[in-house]
Amino acid sequence: MRIYRILYRQARTLLEERLDYYSQFNPSPLSMQQFTDFGENATNMDSFMFLRKELPVRLANIMKEFNLLPGKLLHMPSVGIVRDLYRQSFTDLLQFENGTSNITTTTLDKFTDALVKIRNRHVDVVMTMAQGVMELKDAHAINANTESNIQYFLDRFYMNRISIRMLINQHTILFGDGVNHQNHIGCIDPHCDVVRVIEDAYSNARFLCDQYYLASPELILRYHNGMDKSSRTIMAAGSPADKTPVSVVYVPSHLYHMLFELFKNAMRAVVEHHGPGSDIFPPVEVLLVMGQEDLTIKLSDQGGGIPRSVMDLLFNYMYSTAPQPAVSGLDTPPLAGYGYGLPLSRLYARYFHGDLQLTSCEGYGSDAVIYLKALSSEANELLPVYNKTCQRQYSTPVQTHDWSSQVHSAQFVRPFSTSSRPKTPTPPVITTTQ
Ligand SMILES: Nc1ncnc2c1ncn2[C@@H]1O[C@H](COP(=O)(O)OP(=O)(O)O)[C@@H](O)[C@H]1O
Ligand SMILES: [Mg+2]
Repeated sequence: MRIYRILYRQARTLLEERLDYYSQFNPSPLSMQQFTDFGENATNMDSFMFLRKELPVRLANIMKEFNLLPGKLLHMPSVGIVRDLYRQSFTDLLQFENGTSNITTTTLDKFTDALVKIRNRHVDVVMTMAQGVMELKDAHAINANTESNIQYFLDRFYMNRISIRMLINQHTILFGDGVNHQNHIGCIDPHCDVVRVIEDAYSNARFLCDQYYLASPELILRYHNGMDKSSRTIMAAGSPADKTPVSVVYVPSHLYHMLFELFKNAMRAVVEHHGPGSDIFPPVEVLLVMGQEDLTIKLSDQGGGIPRSVMDLLFNYMYSTAPQPAVSGLDTPPLAGYGYGLPLSRLYARYFHGDLQLTSCEGYGSDAVIYLKALSSEANELLPVYNKTCQRQYSTPVQTHDWSSQVHSAQFVRPFSTSSRPKTPTPPVITTTQ
């Protein structure tokens, strides 16, 4: 028994030492262009040599950040599970860190297998981490600092995860036994047909909406080409469709994820706002614009909009106005309720230097806008880095307000004449004779 304990402690120390080592390096962001060039020209060995360092670096950067989380969160069982998964995967990768002359095809095959294993191991991490935060909320009252630290961490943690999955997918699709989609470079489509992805996301969200409400809004889709200033309607009820593709170099599954979430939100808002029993719903209107720098997709709904008072909460993990769905036993996924739709979609958009924003006219409807980089050379990965700035972020208290708008009840308000009002701040004078 004692020998096991000693071995366990030694393994742990080695792990900590390698974590310290790899976390000194900054991750190396790649542009979409580099991903495609690499995918077309690099060999299995090139990819192996790059990933055997880059993956431990990306893992170590986020694993070190775990240590900065509030202790109470770290003690939650689900967070413990997630940390163990990361430790295991980091350890798996360490067996490939050395050697140059003795790398054989068996090593390369083993590496690809290890990556597949890691990808499968981490498949439920988003939900497990969310569970961990829920455990904390159930067990403790959470103050504003803890809330903001968790929000800050989760954005970085999930972004790191998106990036690691991207690297693993590229390698395993290109060099493993996985299905390599014709004309794709790994999971990137150099001619990603945006119109088709919009239609797919719309029809799948509509399917869910129909299941929940037995009704759903139509889609109107318009395209504007900012270069030649031409416009056309791609889809509108009752008019012939012009489905000439509009393409961009992108990861179709990422674009689909964002659009599916936005369509679900828009549809839910429209049906709830007008009442599921309503005869006719205003359509969700999508405007797709190809500019010189940005490709913009704007979804406009007439779902009653969002009050400004909650606008700041929309991108908070777990903020939802829908009832929380049951975890298991569902034949179809829920339409809403986890509160992860918007924050995760914004991460996907930001991952390649795009963005996702929401504006709203309360009482009428909302506009959700996805921005993507039109040029693949400008679409660089955006990656969290473990450094002094991020460490400071966890220890800086949430800013207290330096504006006042609090209205006091009338009995405490004492009118004063303008002539007696001091111009410059002076220490308060407490008078006892009044
Ligand atoms: N288009 C929209 N119209 C009105 N409210 C919206 C819209 N999009 C999002 N919201 C609000 O934002 C909340 C969070 O959305 P989201 O992150 O997708 O989580 P969920 O859909 O699981 O609630 C929703 O519960 C809803 O209250
Ligand atoms: Mg949603």
